Amino acid sequence: MPKQTPTRKTPQDLRSFRWMGSDDLRSFGHRSRLKQMGYSSDDYGGKPIIAILNAWSDLIPCHTHFPQRVEEIKRGIWQAGGFPVEIPVTSVSETFMKPTAMLYRNLLAMEAEEMLRSQPIDGAVLMGGCDKTTPGLIMGAISANLPAIFVPAGPMLNGNFQGTTLGSGTDSWKYWAERCAGNIDNCVWRGVEEGIARSPGHCMTMGTASTMTSIAETIGMTLPGAASIPAVHSSHSRMAEASGRRIVEMVWEDLKPRDILDQRAWDNAITVDMAIGGSTNAIVHLIAMAGRAGIELPLERFDEISHSTPVIANLRPAGKYLMQDFYDAGGLPGLLNRIGDLLHLDCATVNGKTLGENIQDAGVYNDDIIRPRGNPVSPFGSTFVLRGNLAPDGCVIKPIAAEARLAKHTGPAIVFKDYADLKARIDDEALPVTGDSVLVLLGAGPLGAPGMPEWGMLPIPKKLLRAGVRDMVRISDSRMSGTSYGTCVLHVCPESAIGGPLALVRDGDMIELDVQARKINLRVSDAELTRRREQWRPPQPRYPRGYGKLFAAECTQANEGCDFRFLAADGSTPEPDIY
Ligand code: FES
Repeated sequence: MPKQTPTRKTPQDLRSFRWMGSDDLRSFGHRSRLKQMGYSSDDYGGKPIIAILNAWSDLIPCHTHFPQRVEEIKRGIWQAGGFPVEIPVTSVSETFMKPTAMLYRNLLAMEAEEMLRSQPIDGAVLMGGCDKTTPGLIMGAISANLPAIFVPAGPMLNGNFQGTTLGSGTDSWKYWAERCAGNIDNCVWRGVEEGIARSPGHCMTMGTASTMTSIAETIGMTLPGAASIPAVHSSHSRMAEASGRRIVEMVWEDLKPRDILDQRAWDNAITVDMAIGGSTNAIVHLIAMAGRAGIELPLERFDEISHSTPVIANLRPAGKYLMQDFYDAGGLPGLLNRIGDLLHLDCATVNGKTLGENIQDAGVYNDDIIRPRGNPVSPFGSTFVLRGNLAPDGCVIKPIAAEARLAKHTGPAIVFKDYADLKARIDDEALPVTGDSVLVLLGAGPLGAPGMPEWGMLPIPKKLLRAGVRDMVRISDSRMSGTSYGTCVLHVCPESAIGGPLALVRDGDMIELDVQARKINLRVSDAELTRRREQWRPPQPRYPRGYGKLFAAECTQANEGCDFRFLAADGSTPEPDIY
């Protein structure tokens, strides 16, 4: 049930009152410095101070429209009687950050938490959307546990090239494969480059960005319907303004993330992840996010829910359409309405209503995009969890984005010791690879790469592409882009860099994949594996200093969410002293 709010806060109850309200020298300093910025006491006196955590920079194309949205959020905050302050935070750019944006998700989470805690903030608007920014900001907000509302960036417009619709990522990989196979020329390739990303907004396939913003809405951290609105739609501006208005009320009501995010909210998140055909990356992020709320999500919970949840969103990479189409078909509220019997509808949300109240009148306007329950894209959820002697702590696969013929497959391993080795040899004409081979990539996990990059969709060797092969079994301890596809076994735990069984695979070893049985096994005797383990030596640490060293020391494995141990730890952090 939503949190009961019998009494509203008074201005003296505001957290910022500790900074502003006392008749002492320190408060004098705080007030005088606001005046230095041109604000009078009419602007801020007795008002909730609302931080707008803005993950914008000139190198995050998915957030290009944020400078305008900030002004719209501020407009809403002023209207509702709050005092807005914009605080830039790390713009974790999926496009440009190397080796991977995932290396910096926890940095953003830590920064968001500390920016809120250390300053006179009563509530927060979280502006994100590009892959890691959604979990990073929400993880930080859960730990800070101040009233917070998420404003998703929204998907970009559909891509297009010569009348053919293009989807972020998904069609990049497809056209690249055809180029490598010699089926398209440079002119077409450049045309795809011009047309695949043609407006502000995050990737418009059901990749990680759309998955995570849909999840943010499902768990109740956005206004209803916010996640599906295209970034450049005028509704997006109105949603931003409304979010600004609402956060002020949330402060007076003292409605905080941990009042909303109980076990049922996370089960809803997994259910929706399955029903939308969500990204495999959502598993890592959800485990980390729930962990911040003190809730453990074992991998098995994802598999249990996938058994009972059909995929009904017909969106790429698993389906046909894109987010702009999804929005016009009714968007996430329409989808939630169609799976309402699978959800905990009494969960609280940021607008003060239950999830059920928010979606009870939501409609669906295109049954091919949001399928009826009797005609799903897939009768089971989008992600399965596998185990076996190759992955004792689990790994994941997205069978709906893979060729069905490979769901039960046994083949000889071709092992690449790291990505550099893969790049050097994958297209070697002498590589003894066939369509039945199993490509294995080591050294690509949270600690090995480090940062667990999206290297898991290993490229098909060019000679096989020319022969018409478009999918193979691929296994790694890395992740895969949510926009990608293929029979890719991902997140193998424990990872190879800490001596997981993946590190013991040799060329020619037979590997057995059985998706329906949820099995992944290396057909090598225990005695031989023991002999290999005795010979195994850990790799040298990649970073001798700096943030990379901190990451390597503190990052957990994928089945634990890849959070930092000291951030995921139980217990509360005290409010700062003000002397
Ligand atoms: Fe930002 Fe895909 S690059 S969401």
